Amino acid sequence: MKKTISSVPYPSYILFLVITTLILQQTTLGDPRSHTVNITCGNQLEHNSTLYVPNFVASMENISNQMRTSGFGEAVTGSGPDTNYGLAQCYGDLSLLDCVLCYAEARTILPQCFPYNGGRIFLDGCFMRAENYSFFEEYTGAGDRAVCGNATRKSSAFQVSARQAVVQSVSTALNNNGYARAEVAVSGTANQSAYVLANCWRTLNTSACKACLENASTSILGCLPWSEGRALNTGCFMRYSDIDFLNKPPGSGRFKRDHNSDCSFSCQFCHCFGRWGDYWSLHLEAQNNRKEKKRFK
Ligand SMILES: *[C@@H]1O[C@H](CO)[C@@H](O)[C@H](O)[C@H]1NC(C)=O
Ligand SMILES: *[C@@H]1O[C@H](CO)[C@@H](O)[C@H](O)[C@H]1NC(C)=O
Ligand SMILES: *[C@@H]1O[C@H](CO)[C@@H](O)[C@H](O)[C@H]1NC(C)=O
Ligand SMILES: *[C@@H]1O[C@H](CO)[C@@H](O)[C@H](O)[C@H]1NC(C)=O
Ligand SMILES: *[C@@H]1O[C@H](CO)[C@@H](O)[C@H](O)[C@H]1NC(C)=O
Ligand SMILES: *[C@@H]1O[C@H](CO)[C@@H](O)[C@H](O)[C@H]1NC(C)=O
Ligand SMILES: *[C@@H]1O[C@H](CO)[C@@H](O)[C@H](O)[C@H]1NC(C)=O
Ligand SMILES: *[C@@H]1O[C@H](CO)[C@@H](O)[C@H](O)[C@H]1NC(C)=O
Repeated sequence: MKKTISSVPYPSYILFLVITTLILQQTTLGDPRSHTVNITCGNQLEHNSTLYVPNFVASMENISNQMRTSGFGEAVTGSGPDTNYGLAQCYGDLSLLDCVLCYAEARTILPQCFPYNGGRIFLDGCFMRAENYSFFEEYTGAGDRAVCGNATRKSSAFQVSARQAVVQSVSTALNNNGYARAEVAVSGTANQSAYVLANCWRTLNTSACKACLENASTSILGCLPWSEGRALNTGCFMRYSDIDFLNKPPGSGRFKRDHNSDCSFSCQFCHCFGRWGDYWSLHLEAQNNRKEKKRFK
């Protein structure tokens, strides 16, 4: 196999890595939150791996191109019982660059489900699912549940704020393409808040999204008085926390994180950053393709 980096002389590759690392540390990059919350595999075996594997890989690649430009992707590859239906989505507070990183992690881990023909993975920044049938409109299912983080027991004032933030995020999301963030200060404290993220998959209509978020709200509020709750539903993800896990909205930081948007400082620098960013994500992707192929062996 031809190596992606073979056309780049060795020293300039190292220089590229060093500069990229420096840039990534200096700009106020967001957090891709690529920590896996849960991966669940289906229980049906693939039909014919000669067909299944290339269909899966092609869907992941197709979705990858969509993720880079819109933070969401869906693809259908092949026909018959080994058709691959894939969907991936980053949560609304991730920049496109962070989205590429989160998706890179998801597509590295999901092939662990092989030889089962379906699987879904929830990370803290994105979601991905693949099946051999069209699940794009599903919003509820037997596996829907909350995962509670029980490190700290919170005061009743925090619980009041968490409930408010959850309700607020659902109503905002329904008028905002299925996505919302919320922050409600805890009364009687100097600087504590309850933070909430709510996100439906973009394939759902408003009524399906509403049903999903209402179910998710009820299930995460069952995590109180603990400090963390996450709902892993078929059609949506929701989380509340006492820590501010949300990325700052674009443009509110010192520098913009999205290298595609206009810059608040030297455009020369941004131009380069944009190109490095693309180069870097291509490199990551090439790495992933190699890993994916290995995993299937
Ligand atoms: C994911 O959730 C399923 C269903 O609750 C559970 O059986 C499984 O152990 C979880 N897997 C991980 C890696 O947490
Ligand atoms: C799997 O599919 C390939 C390509 O269509 C075919 O050549 C092969 O015979 C199939 N294998 C089985 C076990 O059906
Ligand atoms: C991705 O898949 C869609 C259909 O699922 C198709 O229309 C599109 O051409 C594919 N794009 C690429 C780059 O393969
Ligand atoms: C999905 O795969 C299973 C097992 O190979 C097969 O029984 C089923 O018919 C397939 N589903 C579709 C919609 O082709
Ligand atoms: C919304 O999507 C659900 C699930 O696909 C469907 O049952 C329902 O009829 C749709 N509602 C509207 C108003 O389109
Ligand atoms: C959190 O819950 C798990 C399972 O219920 C339990 O094993 C663990 O000890 C709990 N941790 C704390 C800090 O309460
Ligand atoms: C919140 O307030 C406490 C006490 O006033 C202080 O110790 C802590 O550093 C503050 N935390 C933040 C994130 O500002
Ligand atoms: C959410 O929906 C699932 C699947 O239908 C169901 O099992 C669960 O009881 C519902 N949870 C709540 C809190 O309504």
